[in-house]
Amino acid sequence: MEAALSPLARLWLYRAAVLVHLGAVVVWFGAVAYYPLILRPALRASAVERKAKYVILGAVKARLKIVVGGAVIALAASGLTLGWLRGFVGAGQATGVFHHRLFLVKLALGAALIVVFLTALPLLQQVQVPTRRARLFLATHLVVLALGLIAAGVGILLSR
Ligand code: HEM
Repeated sequence: MEAALSPLARLWLYRAAVLVHLGAVVVWFGAVAYYPLILRPALRASAVERKAKYVILGAVKARLKIVVGGAVIALAASGLTLGWLRGFVGAGQATGVFHHRLFLVKLALGAALIVVFLTALPLLQQVQVPTRRARLFLATHLVVLALGLIAAGVGILLSR
């Protein structure tokens, strides 16, 4: 496969992978940032009644599973493609120890974020006290945003 790709094809595959990677980051973390920065304050300011609020949040969660689910797949696929093109993964590993360790950190952060995406909502549904569930829901968003920022920083270090 490696021999099959011409340098020009590799260059365009790299550019396409970076575009998909950054697009997936924008969609995933944009959706996560939307709740604490826009939806939650708007629901509080609108004083919408509790029952209607839960209906809106339920519809948002259903949509989020589809949209963010797609972004997670695109991010992991483009990230592994970038890792292969840069020699961080696969038979022809050609990177220094620093970049290789950075890539392993990136993989660990990516895996942690995917585990949170897959488990947070089902686990939060187990919390019976509505105020505690709401606080944990907000805290989860803030932790994911922080991990995303770190992953982006590691990604920028990796790319140079
Ligand atoms: C799922 C696991 C992930 C893998 C395997 C991965 C892999 C990579 C690789 C190999 C690069 C270097 C690309 C290059 O050489 O230019 C990179 C860059 C980057 N990654 Fe990731 N990544 C992952 C998750 C994430 C996450 C969760 C974020 C942020 C929330 C992120 C944000 C970035 C950014 C901003 C860059 C710099 C793009 C550039 O300037 O080239 N990545 N990623």
